[in-house]
Amino acid sequence: MLNVLIKNAKVYHNNALEQADMLVLNGTVSSIGAGIAASENVPVVDGQGLFILPGFADVHVHLREPGFFYKETIHTGTQAAAKGGFTLVCSMPNLNPVPDNAENMALQQEIINRDAVIKVLPYASITKGEKGAELVNFEELYDKCFAFSDDGKGVQKDEMMLTAMEKAKALGKPVVAHCEDESLLFGGYIHDGEYARLHGHRGISSESEWKQVERDIELVRKTGVQYHVCHISTKETVDLVRKAKAEGLPVSCETAPHYLAFCDMDLEEHGRWKMNPPIRSAADRDALIKGVQDGTIEVIATDHAPHSEEEKSRGLEKSNMGVVGIETSFAAMNTYMVKRGYITMEKLAEIMSINPRTKFGLPAGITVGEKADFVVVDPDKEFVVDSRDFVSKGKFTPFLGKTLYGDVLLTVYDGEAVYNKFEEVK
Ligand code: DOR
Repeated sequence: MLNVLIKNAKVYHNNALEQADMLVLNGTVSSIGAGIAASENVPVVDGQGLFILPGFADVHVHLREPGFFYKETIHTGTQAAAKGGFTLVCSMPNLNPVPDNAENMALQQEIINRDAVIKVLPYASITKGEKGAELVNFEELYDKCFAFSDDGKGVQKDEMMLTAMEKAKALGKPVVAHCEDESLLFGGYIHDGEYARLHGHRGISSESEWKQVERDIELVRKTGVQYHVCHISTKETVDLVRKAKAEGLPVSCETAPHYLAFCDMDLEEHGRWKMNPPIRSAADRDALIKGVQDGTIEVIATDHAPHSEEEKSRGLEKSNMGVVGIETSFAAMNTYMVKRGYITMEKLAEIMSINPRTKFGLPAGITVGEKADFVVVDPDKEFVVDSRDFVSKGKFTPFLGKTLYGDVLLTVYDGEAVYNKFEEVK
């Protein structure tokens, strides 16, 4: 169990940052305040210029196991997450077998119990095999999963989504929706915008996302289910969610760092720029930034989606959809959102640590007397993203070669250091 005294850091405590010392004894947060005295056998770390934030949480990652261990495993994925400052990730169900019954769920849970170095909460799928034809048995799964999602695919049939929401509502579980109307795709694979036109690519319309969000919000109005939209990418979706919230509906959403940092004109002819939904126009990016600022988007998730080198090296048209993000999320958010003055570090802690937990009824924050769960970051450390440094098996990210600011120095989960760069800390 961890013992450490961190002096003079900025600690996120009671919903605000305060200049303070933090003492952790035997894995428990013992005290936070000014002038905490050092004691024997407790290593002391100089926290000047550093932030201590609650451990980051990501409600949208692909750990690929069981089924696709050549892309990632629960072990490599959670090690990568610990390196990124995360202490909780929620694993998406597009696996083999899909966790669509208790037996398949148990298979994944066994690997989590054996190999995860941080907390992993798995999703159950909404439809059997994520095929969109038949609903899972919600009663059999609700107490074994974080929430229900068919991530990777939208639920196409309105009636089926309605029933899914009714069942989830009755069991007190959220529906977390990948929104994509397949009738509006027309073979597209990047955003249907200027870059696609200039370079002769087939585009994915914004409508394919927001049309399904619009349908789902209508169904939330009928069912009252807790509903969270995955990886939102369009300005229309921001507006729809903003209106739904103003109406008092139980709707929330997430976006990912790459949608806030880039627009389609930043694309290059490489699979590392390809994900679903795609990076959209500058107007969409700006609307997403506004959405984060005004609280419409309360959660940042990475959609960490590792694929093999071969799967990502076939250019924009033929590469698999998905990019990794768990090891660069903090630095990307710090660089593109905090350093640019769009949000404060408090807000970053809210959208990366607090809200992803509280929105889903999980405890959040750094609390004296409780098991330590936090991350120590240096906001000013400059580095160039080199995916050879990644712990994840996935190496493809649009942040490759970009200069970012922000380093994770220590990640503490359940009272233990799961990632540590301090020589003083054992
Ligand atoms: O880019 C994506 N990759 N989007 C998804 O919805 C699925 C994911 C994956 O599983 O690779």
